[in-house]
Amino acid sequence: MVLFKEKCLYLMIAGMVNYILGLGVVLWKISHAPVREYSKGCLDCARTPGQTHRAAHGENRSSGLPASDPNFSHCGPFKDPQDTVFGYWNWKKVSMCDGHLIAYRDKFALLRNVIVDRKRSKEWSVAGIAPDRVPHQKEENEFISIKKGFFQILCSGTLTAVFNETQMKRMWLQKTMTTDTSLDKYAIIPRESKMTIIVTRFGYANAYWAIVDMYNAFLLQNFFGKSCTEVKVLLLDSHPWGAFDGMWNTVFGKMLRLTDLHNVTLFKTVVWGMQSNQSPMLRRHMPHLPFVRPFRETMLHRHGVRPQHSQACKTSKLNVLFIWRHDYVAHPRNPSGRVTRKIANEGELLNHLQKTFPSFNISGIQLDKLTIANQLQLVSATDILIAMHGAALAFTVFMTPGSGVIELYPKGHGVSWHFENLARWNGVHYTRWQNVDFDAENQEATFIPPAVASRLVRDMSQQVCPE
Ligand SMILES: *[C@@H]1O[C@H](CO)[C@@H](O)[C@H](O)[C@H]1NC(C)=O
Ligand SMILES: *[C@@H]1O[C@H](CO)[C@@H](O)[C@H](O)[C@H]1NC(C)=O
Ligand SMILES: *[C@@H]1O[C@H](CO)[C@@H](O)[C@H](O)[C@H]1NC(C)=O
Ligand SMILES: *[C@@H]1O[C@H](CO)[C@@H](O)[C@H](O)[C@H]1NC(C)=O
Ligand SMILES: *[C@@H]1O[C@H](CO)[C@@H](O)[C@H](O)[C@H]1NC(C)=O
Repeated sequence: MVLFKEKCLYLMIAGMVNYILGLGVVLWKISHAPVREYSKGCLDCARTPGQTHRAAHGENRSSGLPASDPNFSHCGPFKDPQDTVFGYWNWKKVSMCDGHLIAYRDKFALLRNVIVDRKRSKEWSVAGIAPDRVPHQKEENEFISIKKGFFQILCSGTLTAVFNETQMKRMWLQKTMTTDTSLDKYAIIPRESKMTIIVTRFGYANAYWAIVDMYNAFLLQNFFGKSCTEVKVLLLDSHPWGAFDGMWNTVFGKMLRLTDLHNVTLFKTVVWGMQSNQSPMLRRHMPHLPFVRPFRETMLHRHGVRPQHSQACKTSKLNVLFIWRHDYVAHPRNPSGRVTRKIANEGELLNHLQKTFPSFNISGIQLDKLTIANQLQLVSATDILIAMHGAALAFTVFMTPGSGVIELYPKGHGVSWHFENLARWNGVHYTRWQNVDFDAENQEATFIPPAVASRLVRDMSQQVCPE
């Protein structure tokens, strides 16, 4: 919805998220968009002539990563010579309000000298609370309502409607902008000079969506020519605590919630981040996932994990890791924490594989019992990862290129392309197996024949370590 009023544009992007991505556990329904109000306002719009977008001309960014530098320690900005996405975003960018508002391809926007008045927002739930304290909390109440005047921006001249309502309707958030003729009266307002990326998470408790959101923010960081410590991330949602929350602080300069802000803050630059499902990671046919390698190495590095090249093939000591799916409470909508797609015969598989491949190091783990840093450490040291279809397989993107993933499916379960794509983009071998035996299924677990497991592992080990 786009309104024109007193030369100013009030953008409202409201709507629903309602989609299923074949991930089994992932179904979000945000049944109504929070709030709904506008007001007037174009304040003037002081202008900085000739201001251009630094990252728009990314020629002189620092080079990409040195090949497997064990001392890798920077976190951008990176360059990806194979990337086609940044150019595409730049191609149809629209600049308004003398550059105070730049919209990129309906996906995200850059706001300069923007005042954020957090009193013009309302939270319907407590952000970061333990999920078991709010059982059955409605997901729609985990989004923050924003009223007109939440964003105040300098603006003069004509504004054009650039956000495509059809494409953006899933973005529940509304932006409202009011402006003034000068910033003078705000001179006493606390200022935030670091670029702040606003992220609204939907699948915050799900490894796949958490990684998508983090990847999106990482792309924007690089798009705008910043290192990860040069940006802050403002989580504009009020989900309960989730296992991936800490990653934001670890990876980026700082993670903020709305309640961390002053009542009114003047931000030098705000990036209105893209919605999860606008991510290049969700574009199935992309031949190359932009910045996949810097993303992987930055995420590992920021968690203190050193990317390594496996020596396993030389010694035939492949690390084979099963990820078990066990019950755990991840979010209020599943208070019992029950999960499906378990493996019915975990112990038997381990025993059988250890006997069949005595030189291999074979183990199984419930990933969510570990810290994120330990999860990353483990996965990056794994040569062959085996798991029933589930969000944990998103960790494929952090595996060492050349390793392998085996994704298992229960009978009759729809097959998803997401993890296969992550494997391909990250240079990881991939294989899929689906049960066809009705008797091998119960309601929440699948029996995997040991002989099938050893065949899958043997085949994969030959791909990982070709003769
Ligand atoms: C890129 O940066 C280097 C070093 O700062 C500088 O010498 C060079 O002129 C820059 N190139 C461009 C195209 O701006
Ligand atoms: C990495 O750092 C260590 C210690 O600072 C140094 O001895 C080593 O040469 C470095 N390695 C590379 C490849 O730069
Ligand atoms: C908006 O997006 C939809 C869906 O991608 C597309 O069909 C439509 O043509 C777009 N409208 C404009 C005005 O670009
Ligand atoms: C922020 O707003 C609250 C509620 O309106 C008010 O009580 C408080 O004094 C304000 N703080 C500042 C620093 O203005
Ligand atoms: C064997 O694998 C486990 C889990 O992947 C790992 O913690 C352990 O360090 C590995 N052992 C060796 C000798 O590599």
